[in-house]
Amino acid sequence: MADFDLVIRGGKVATASETFEADIGVRGGKIVALGAGLDKGRSEIDARGKLVLPGGIDSHCHVAQLSSSGVMTADDFKTGSTSAACGGTTMIIPFAAQHRGMSLRKVVQEYHERADGQSLIDYAFHLIISDPTEQVMGQELPALIRDGYTSFKIYTTYDALKLSDRQVLDVLALARREGAMVMVHAENHDIIAWLSDRLVQAGRKQPSSHAVAHHPIAESEATNRVIALAELLDVPVLFVHVSAKEAIDRIREAQARGLKIYGETCPQYLFLTADMLDKPGDEGAKCMCSPPPRDKANQEFVWQGLRSGVFEVFSSDHAPYRYEGPNGKKAGFAAGGFKKVPNGIPGLEIRLPALFSAGVLNDVISLQQFVALTSTNHAKMYGLYPQKGTIAIGSDADICVWDPKIERTITQSELHDAMDYTPYEGMKITGWPVIVLSRGEVVSRDGQPVAKPGRGKFHPCEKPEPARPKGRWPFNVEVEAILG
Ligand code: URP
Ligand code: ZN
Ligand code: ZN
Repeated sequence: MADFDLVIRGGKVATASETFEADIGVRGGKIVALGAGLDKGRSEIDARGKLVLPGGIDSHCHVAQLSSSGVMTADDFKTGSTSAACGGTTMIIPFAAQHRGMSLRKVVQEYHERADGQSLIDYAFHLIISDPTEQVMGQELPALIRDGYTSFKIYTTYDALKLSDRQVLDVLALARREGAMVMVHAENHDIIAWLSDRLVQAGRKQPSSHAVAHHPIAESEATNRVIALAELLDVPVLFVHVSAKEAIDRIREAQARGLKIYGETCPQYLFLTADMLDKPGDEGAKCMCSPPPRDKANQEFVWQGLRSGVFEVFSSDHAPYRYEGPNGKKAGFAAGGFKKVPNGIPGLEIRLPALFSAGVLNDVISLQQFVALTSTNHAKMYGLYPQKGTIAIGSDADICVWDPKIERTITQSELHDAMDYTPYEGMKITGWPVIVLSRGEVVSRDGQPVAKPGRGKFHPCEKPEPARPKGRWPFNVEVEAILG
């Protein structure tokens, strides 16, 4: 007689590769059996008529993060992780953000202090590298990679964050040597600054100018440039929050040439449009993020990119800056127009339901693609697979029991983040998780938290699959000799 802590019975299990009917036996927080007619568990979940999916992994969210202008995100680990869990996410990977002059090791320690004992679900950290000094590149970063911080984000824009091409090459060379994954925020800084100055000079300070200044060509130029640098050094790169056709085309072309170039996109590029920044007064600031939402035609290109596999991951880029309050968007706008509005919008809780509803139920993407885009590919991209990101024997029981028929209307008062608005207010959704399990423990039920924050654990990352040095593409021999 098998000894299960829990059996999830009678559901339709979906992974990134198949859908099958099976019971799931859980013991000690792990999946230990999959099959029909499993013995009774000490507790049971009736999943008949439901989908049973790997819990979502959100590998791009900003939680308890201090921005380069000194603004703390509205969400800490308690609220951020709770919001994530209520929308079907069982692991988050936010950022430990270095600002110039800071020791990276100290930054990581500070972020751990913010997260310790706070999170409802498991978490890891990416690093943000804004100051690649000799100390950082020679000692701190290689040691941190070995300690489980195997991915880092770099920027080609923002005064306080952007790296020069030379610095990008340094970071890419290090990532190549150590087998780490580089995430790139690709926008041409000078194009944005030049356009912004002219818009301000012309008195066009309203939020809609943000979408004009962050032109798709600024995005595609920087994407193209970093692809060239990555090709030169033969290193995988993931472009985050890709928004528009031009950048998608550059990524697709690079992929077609066999380069290990990956793309991420986010809900704001499927469900928001630039004209939403054009609301009266400062209301448009509620849709301000970088890159900005584009137009309907670009939404279609983003959907195509999801369907055709240009995008490997679908993340929220949850960057929770409130509308009200001294550091809010409204006050920023009042102080100096669009240039002073904190960039970023929330999305942790709606990420899975919104993609399921608009993507799977409308047959734009398959259920397998949904699982891959929201969970499995994140685990592979960041060295968590197969412990996370799938339903298989030996994997953590991070599982969503998903009701594909529930209808909900998104409204801020029912979300669990610490925000005072959602840009998706009023959006109709079909499909929401009814039970979310983290390592076998129910953490949310019917979209409400039911476990105590603090149970979530830090989870160090292995070397990411794409960055492991097997099967490199044909490479520039002279450069290889220089890199050693
Ligand atoms: O506008 C955004 N996306 N803010 C968050 C920071 C970032 O660049 O991802
Ligand atoms: Zn970014
Ligand atoms: Zn972000």
